[in-house]
Amino acid sequence: MLTDKDRIFTNLYGLHSPGLDGARKRGDWDGTKAILELGRDAIVDIMKKSGLRGRGGAGFPTGMKWSFMPKKSDGRPCYLVVNADESEPGTCKDRDILRHDPHKLVEGCLIASFAMGANAAYIYVRGEFIREREALQRAIDEAYDAGLIGKNNVHGWDFDCYVHHGAGAYICGEETALLESLEGKKGMPRMKPPFPANVGLYGCPTTVNNVESIAVAPTILRRGAEWFAGLGRPNNTGTKVFCISGHVNRPCNVEEEMGIPLKDLIEKHCGGVRGGWDNLLAIIPGGSSVPLLKKDVCDTVLMDFDSLKNVGSGLGTAAVIVMDQSTDIVAAIRRLSYFYKHESCGQCTPCREGTGWLWRMMKRMETGEAVAAEIDTLQDVTKQIEGHTICALGDAAAWPVQGLIKNFRPELEARIAARRSALAKAAE
Ligand SMILES: Cc1cc2nc3c(=O)[nH]c(=O)nc-3n(C[C@H](O)[C@H](O)[C@H](O)COP(=O)(O)O)c2cc1C
Ligand code: SF4
Repeated sequence: MLTDKDRIFTNLYGLHSPGLDGARKRGDWDGTKAILELGRDAIVDIMKKSGLRGRGGAGFPTGMKWSFMPKKSDGRPCYLVVNADESEPGTCKDRDILRHDPHKLVEGCLIASFAMGANAAYIYVRGEFIREREALQRAIDEAYDAGLIGKNNVHGWDFDCYVHHGAGAYICGEETALLESLEGKKGMPRMKPPFPANVGLYGCPTTVNNVESIAVAPTILRRGAEWFAGLGRPNNTGTKVFCISGHVNRPCNVEEEMGIPLKDLIEKHCGGVRGGWDNLLAIIPGGSSVPLLKKDVCDTVLMDFDSLKNVGSGLGTAAVIVMDQSTDIVAAIRRLSYFYKHESCGQCTPCREGTGWLWRMMKRMETGEAVAAEIDTLQDVTKQIEGHTICALGDAAAWPVQGLIKNFRPELEARIAARRSALAKAAE
């Protein structure tokens, strides 16, 4: 378990002031100039050595991503864009960072921008996050007033930080849709390549990072790559803010060490599963987009990128959705299928048409109106979407259904059989 001395987000629950005075007491903005004086290459190197993998879902190594930005300007400005869209169902960690520890993010923006040769950062905040945007803007204003950022600031790197308020669409969390939205256009993902590091915001080199990825950077640089890499497991280092919701006694956000056993996470921080561990049915371990896990896997699995991949799921955003035996698991996944159908931007056929198919077939599975052969057809539809679309929303729609078929096929078959026998009885 993570000890208090290794905690990065020491005001995650908002017990102390989120303002500059409180942030300074927690160690923020301490020695920032000395960090910048290390130089761009050394900062990127430390981030690489720390092993930090992006906290937005895909787990791409953060230091490596920063190193893709051009070392020499070709005349175009470079930008850092922070993804605070946080629309993945079950995920609510970035919002607590924005509300309660916003200076960690602002300081992280300055350092990351410096390391990538950017003099401006844009933070794209989810449309529904009104109070979060206000708290973030207050922190940015304080940083400007104290000369920590802005022109001729005390750190010697001119830097502006802008907050952009989204209009509330899940797809705007996808990094290229986010850039389109930031530019004032419809939030529709772009084809890649070109990648944002070459052609990003306003056609300029851009890096998009999640709130948590940027907010942990100053502490990593203060405490050293070895400290961060010493937490968790190889290739899955550091601390992570987990969001645990659903059928637990005390749903919460908690910062823990990567690789903590899922069972410990729930028993130690959430008061256990409602009705006890044996009442557990299944868990979605990384936000709604990843396949669910049955109880027997949950008994032992570790919460990190590689462990969850090895059991056919993923860490995603580390949003743990717990479902006890009272859950209608088919209805739960049908509901997610509706979400993805609703949120598809519609520009690629497999996603636009396929997500509707999934939802309609899932409705038939829920009621048992389907025929048994349709289970294979349903699987086939997910395979026709997965990997055949411009962005990962298609995969995100396919995976929960695949997880259901893999783990609960007998449940689907039983519903179909029960309805058939009820109809046969009624006809007698
Ligand atoms: C449909 C969709 C929605 C996404 N939503 C978010 C989001 O709300 N927040 C986020 O940080 N990343 C989100 N992502 C991932 C981003 O595209 C991107 O990988 C991430 O912001 C990169 O940050 P990181 O490298 O720090 O993890 C989403 C991806 C997809 C396909
Ligand atoms: S996969 Fe879906 S959401 Fe992504 S670009 Fe294609 S249609 Fe749009």
